[in-house]
Amino acid sequence: MSRLILSLTLSALSLSASKPQSKPIPDRNLGLSRTSVFEVPSPPAYQDEASGPGEKPLPKRINREYPPVIPHSLADCLPITRGSNLCLECHSVPGPKKKGEPTPIPASHFMDLRRAPEVKGKEVAGTRYVCISCHVPRTDAPPAVGNGFRN
Ligand code: HEC
Ligand code: HEC
Repeated sequence: MSRLILSLTLSALSLSASKPQSKPIPDRNLGLSRTSVFEVPSPPAYQDEASGPGEKPLPKRINREYPPVIPHSLADCLPITRGSNLCLECHSVPGPKKKGEPTPIPASHFMDLRRAPEVKGKEVAGTRYVCISCHVPRTDAPPAVGNGFRN
């Protein structure tokens, strides 16, 4: 008898476990593009920033610890190679920043965080050399996902 009760309880449990808990999510709501996962949508066209350095006011910084967006055109700056880095040429200026002049490269970029994290070296650390690995150029593309973060 107790065996029967046990097997009945177990089958009742497995039934309740297999019952769907919530409604399925439609495939259109799974990705950022809001289309069916079987479609391959082309991303909306966007324009790169065309203004020269210092022509437009700097965008507001949301967070001081976040790499600021490059607010000007990158024409002629790329590619950054071992022998040529125009970002460095313009931005290697002593502080404090003057209005409309390149923002000086901050002290953090002269520190080799892996080998000598406390020491400010004479040159920009190798890990900071390719500026565009952290600083993204400004475009008119709307953000794929909204961000309400405020500092
Ligand atoms: C011809 C000189 C020049 C070159 C080349 C140049 N910049 Fe600039 N950059 C400026 C100036 C001038 C400003 C500041 C504009 C202002 O204050 O209105 C600026 C602003 C910036 C800022 C914004 C800083 C802030 O305070 O918000 C970043 C980031 C930046 N540049 C990164 C780069 C990177 C990365 C490169 C290379 C891909 C580069 N720049 C190449 C002149 C230059
Ligand atoms: C590994 C990521 C990384 C790389 C590579 C990098 N940066 Fe930055 N950058 C940051 C971060 C994070 C900040 C904000 C925090 C700070 O000031 O250290 C910043 C801040 C800046 C600022 C603003 C300073 C200020 O006073 O507000 C300038 C200008 C700048 N970087 C220029 C450059 C240039 C030029 C290069 C290439 C030579 C470069 N960065 C490479 C991450 C990076």
